[in-house]
Amino acid sequence: MMTNQKNPLTTVVSYPERGAGGNNQYRGNCSPKLIEDLIVQFNVKNICDYMCGSNTTRDAAAAMGISSHTYDLHSGFDLLHSDIPERPEYIFWHPPYWDIIQYSDVMYQASEVQRRFGYDPRLFDLSRIPTWDGFVQAMNYCMMKQFCALEKGGRMAVLVGDIKKKGKLFSMLFELTKPGTLENVLIKTQHNCVSDRRHYGGRFIPIVHEYVLLLRKDAPLQVSLLMSYRVGGDMRDMPGATWRDIVAGVLESCNGCASLEEIYRQVEGHKRAQTHQWWKEKVRQTLQINPRIFEKAEKGVWRLIRAA
Ligand SMILES: C[S@@+](CC[C@H](N)C(=O)[O-])C[C@H]1O[C@@H](n2cnc3c(N)ncnc32)[C@H](O)[C@@H]1O
Repeated sequence: MMTNQKNPLTTVVSYPERGAGGNNQYRGNCSPKLIEDLIVQFNVKNICDYMCGSNTTRDAAAAMGISSHTYDLHSGFDLLHSDIPERPEYIFWHPPYWDIIQYSDVMYQASEVQRRFGYDPRLFDLSRIPTWDGFVQAMNYCMMKQFCALEKGGRMAVLVGDIKKKGKLFSMLFELTKPGTLENVLIKTQHNCVSDRRHYGGRFIPIVHEYVLLLRKDAPLQVSLLMSYRVGGDMRDMPGATWRDIVAGVLESCNGCASLEEIYRQVEGHKRAQTHQWWKEKVRQTLQINPRIFEKAEKGVWRLIRAA
């Protein structure tokens, strides 16, 4: 990897030796070396962290001789409801990876926070939000709250990971709102995770990397947002789907076999039929010209040929 003292970062970063700072026993902690490299690369004079965990950011800043302001739910600061005290120049943000590691009452005692600061941290802890959609909503609220607090020209580095559960990827990278100018996405290889010691079977692909998003606030008021959200769609109404895809999809939805009348019924009323005057002819032609995909089961009934 090509790095130098002044610009230590490349688009792939890896810190097999964690380095000193923070607490490697605090689960989900990160390497102070990443934060040190960000400080050098962007010539940061002051760094803020509103979910500082074991205070890796404070220690990295001290090692680099710059000032920092760090906070966490465990020490009286709830990013969802507390005011951000500064107008930060640089924010390092390392949110929980949803509920993969729970913090309140696991890494620290909720009752102690209640006694000292007068609130139950379990109510505001992002790692205790029960649903993915709820987590994404809270994550994006925190993202915008921090971005809005940045000074003009300020930057954020956001360390996020993807989560795999029951064959489905829950991607913080994709679902995180990206305000302002997206400067870079770095891949950070993971080391010394609890999951490294597990053996996975089947088709599971272990996740061995995270992402560092680098964002810049160029304007004081105007902001463009890159957002992703899921919408439902029907192939029969979509550009891109061929007649063959539609007819095969209809047959699949009928357990692989349906009468011509049933196929018509399932296509009628959809955009594809509405935009083709001769759509019934098109359905028949599709069944006839694709002998490797469709076959006649009996008179007026068609079957899908399954791939061997
Ligand atoms: C991934 S950890 C940060 C680890 C840290 N970078 C380190 O090296 O130790 C995420 C942190 O977010 C905190 N957190 C969760 N919800 C929060 C909230 N609403 N406000 C502030 N901190 C919160 C947790 O207490 C936890 O310490």
